[in-house]
Amino acid sequence: MTRKRLWITRRLSDATLERAARDYDVVINHEDTPGTADELIAASADFDAIIPCHSEHFSADVVAQFSDRLRIVANHSVGVDHCDLPALKTRGIAVTNTPDVLSDATAELAMLLMLGAARHAVAGDRIVRTGAWDSWSPAFMVGKQVTGARLGIIGMGRVGRAFAAKARGFDMEIHYYNRTELPADQAQGATYHGSVESLLSVADFLSLHCPATPETTNLMNSERFSLLPQGAVMVNTARGALVDETALLETLTRKHLAAAGLDCFQVEPGGNPAFSEHDNIFMLPHIGSATRSTRDAMGFRALDNVDAFFAGKTPGDLL
Ligand code: DGY
Repeated sequence: MTRKRLWITRRLSDATLERAARDYDVVINHEDTPGTADELIAASADFDAIIPCHSEHFSADVVAQFSDRLRIVANHSVGVDHCDLPALKTRGIAVTNTPDVLSDATAELAMLLMLGAARHAVAGDRIVRTGAWDSWSPAFMVGKQVTGARLGIIGMGRVGRAFAAKARGFDMEIHYYNRTELPADQAQGATYHGSVESLLSVADFLSLHCPATPETTNLMNSERFSLLPQGAVMVNTARGALVDETALLETLTRKHLAAAGLDCFQVEPGGNPAFSEHDNIFMLPHIGSATRSTRDAMGFRALDNVDAFFAGKTPGDLL
C-alpha cells in the first residue's frame, strides 16, 4: 500500500519527526520558516495531510485555491484562529488540534508571568545584571503579593482550569467568567461570574485563557481595564488579539494596572516595540507550550489524529 504523503511545516520534536518518518512519506521543513500562502497552496496538491503550527495561515482565500488532494490539516496547536474553519469544512478538509496535552505547560508559564509581573522580575533582573544594584531599602522594588489574592480567570477551559489548580497552591481565591457555568467537580469551588464586567471588578490578578474569535477580539479594552481594581495585574498566555495594546499601555502608564505578563502579542513574531520601554511588562515570546515533554505530546497527538483519519476513524480531536 502506498504511504500517505505528509507535510510538516515546522521543525517539530525529534520524537515526532521520527514517528512521522516511520509511518508516512513525510517532508519536513527543516528550515523551520513559517509556511507561506503559496507553499500551502502548492502542498495541497502534493500531500494528503499537513501538520502545521499556528504560524501557518489557512485563510479563506488560501483554502479556496487548494487542490482536492489534501484531506486533513492536523494542527500542532490547541488554538486554531489561524485556520478559517468554515472554509476548510466547505472544502471537505478535516481539521484537528492538540488540546489537553499543553494545558499544564501553558498554566506553568501563566504562573511564571503572574509572579514575575507582580514582583518586578524584569527590572530586578536588569538592575542586578547591569551592576546598577547599589542600594537597598525597605521601599525598594515592593511588589504585589500573589498568595491569598483574588484571581479572575476569563475562559475556564482546560488551560484555565489547569491554571486555577496551580493558583490554589498559592491560596488564591478563584473567580471565573466562562460562556457556561462549570459543574462543581470542574469548578472546584471557584466563583462563577455571569459577565466579564462582574469578574473584572474583583480580579486583583486577571488571567486570559479564552480562544481568539471575532467575539473576543480586543476583549480587554479601555473600558474593561478601568473596571479592574486599582493596582491589578493582567496575564495573557492565550492570544494577543484579546488585548487592545494601546489601551493596555494607557492603563499601565496611569498605573491603574500595576503590571502585565504577556506571552502573546497582536503582532507575532516581534511583539509591540512600545512595550519595551515599560519595566512593568514582563514579556516572553509565545512559549507557553514550549517544554520538551509537551512538544512531544503535541506532535504525537497531531500524528494520532492523522493516523485515525487515514484508518477511517474519526480523529479524537476533530473540530
Ligand atoms: C497553541 O497551541 O495554540 C499555542 O499557542 C502554540 O501554538
